[in-house]
Amino acid sequence: MIRVALVGACGVASAYRQGYARIPNVQWKVAVDVDGEKVKKCLAEGCQRVSTKFEDALADDVDVVDVWTPNHLHEEQAVRALEAGKHVLLQKPITNTLAGADRIVATARRMNKTAGMYMTLYNNPLLWELKEMIQQGLFGEIQNTRARNAYPFQRHNTLGPENWRSDQAKVGGGCFIQLSIHSINLLQWLVGRRVTEVMGYAANQYSQGMVGGEDVAIACVKYGNDNKSPMGIFDASYAADDVSLEIYGTRGFFKLERNGEITLSLGKNPYQADKPFSFPMMNNMASGEPVRFRRAEPHDSDVSRPCNQHRMFFTAIQEGRPPHVTAEDGRHDLAVCMAVYESSRIGRAVRV
Ligand SMILES: NC(=O)c1ccc[n+]([C@@H]2O[C@H](COP(=O)([O-])OP(=O)(O)OC[C@H]3O[C@@H](n4cnc5c(N)ncnc54)[C@H](O)[C@@H]3O)[C@@H](O)[C@H]2O)c1
Repeated sequence: MIRVALVGACGVASAYRQGYARIPNVQWKVAVDVDGEKVKKCLAEGCQRVSTKFEDALADDVDVVDVWTPNHLHEEQAVRALEAGKHVLLQKPITNTLAGADRIVATARRMNKTAGMYMTLYNNPLLWELKEMIQQGLFGEIQNTRARNAYPFQRHNTLGPENWRSDQAKVGGGCFIQLSIHSINLLQWLVGRRVTEVMGYAANQYSQGMVGGEDVAIACVKYGNDNKSPMGIFDASYAADDVSLEIYGTRGFFKLERNGEITLSLGKNPYQADKPFSFPMMNNMASGEPVRFRRAEPHDSDVSRPCNQHRMFFTAIQEGRPPHVTAEDGRHDLAVCMAVYESSRIGRAVRV
């Protein structure tokens, strides 16, 4: 049985925690949030006790501390939890500075404890099927990728100056570190190579006084480092809208748009491989003209699926395996974001 403490339980974690107590072989021991009123709601969702003090997440009957607080608090909370002998699961980004990320990674190694990242997109089984298709070579060689992550805080006017997102230092940046980091992590996994070099632009054009960092950012990246390195474009915004994910290979392509709209092309040649063709989420389309269809995205609190990111992390701990996304991966993703900011500042490409 894995016994967990959820820290920062009442922000976006409110939407994710609903199924928490139903994860097999997990006991939700304690929920911690500085908001003493809101945190009481966790008792009705299967949590055994609540607290406003971080120290209570370090109780003897806790094995894993799951951190959902604002970015600038991750480093201190993760290090304290690891030093108290707990495993740690962190929200993205790993923290707001590279030095802080290094400290988390080093502390996990020194304490021989697991530190991993909760990356929401992996909750979607469609993307696991896409990974399998890429690995089987259905798209040919991956040549380039595009991903947009935009949410108009500016238009919805939802952030006040007291919010931590209004402070560039607390966030570690602006929309790119908050939003594009999801796609950066996912696409490196899908492509099977890490980002090695970036060229970026970032500016705060419409959201001054509301978000501290940039509200628009674009990065061109290189994955790996050879004469067939795939290239990618990532863009983020807090002042415009939309999300999308696109992967182009030498034989086919995949596009995922808002509301689960998919366009899939696997070229005109029949698929020939050792394994039988079975990709039910992709409509089992073996070849032909591009097709368009839709897949509903699962709710992030649905813990019934094995790819649910809470389930995957707790299972890895139980089986003594590294987590799907390690703290080292989280550190690298943060380094990509920081390289984009550096590139924007100096006007040149930057190695990661
Ligand atoms: N996975 C995703 O899709 C996703 C989406 C949004 C945010 N996030 C990440 O989740 C984290 C939290 O973001 P948010 O939007 O929930 O922020 P938020 O400000 O809405 O909520 C943070 C929560 O932490 C609590 N808190 C603040 N200081 C605390 C402390 N010292 N101890 C305990 N609790 C404390 C607050 O009361 C609040 O309930 C950030 O790292 C953010 O990047 C992830």
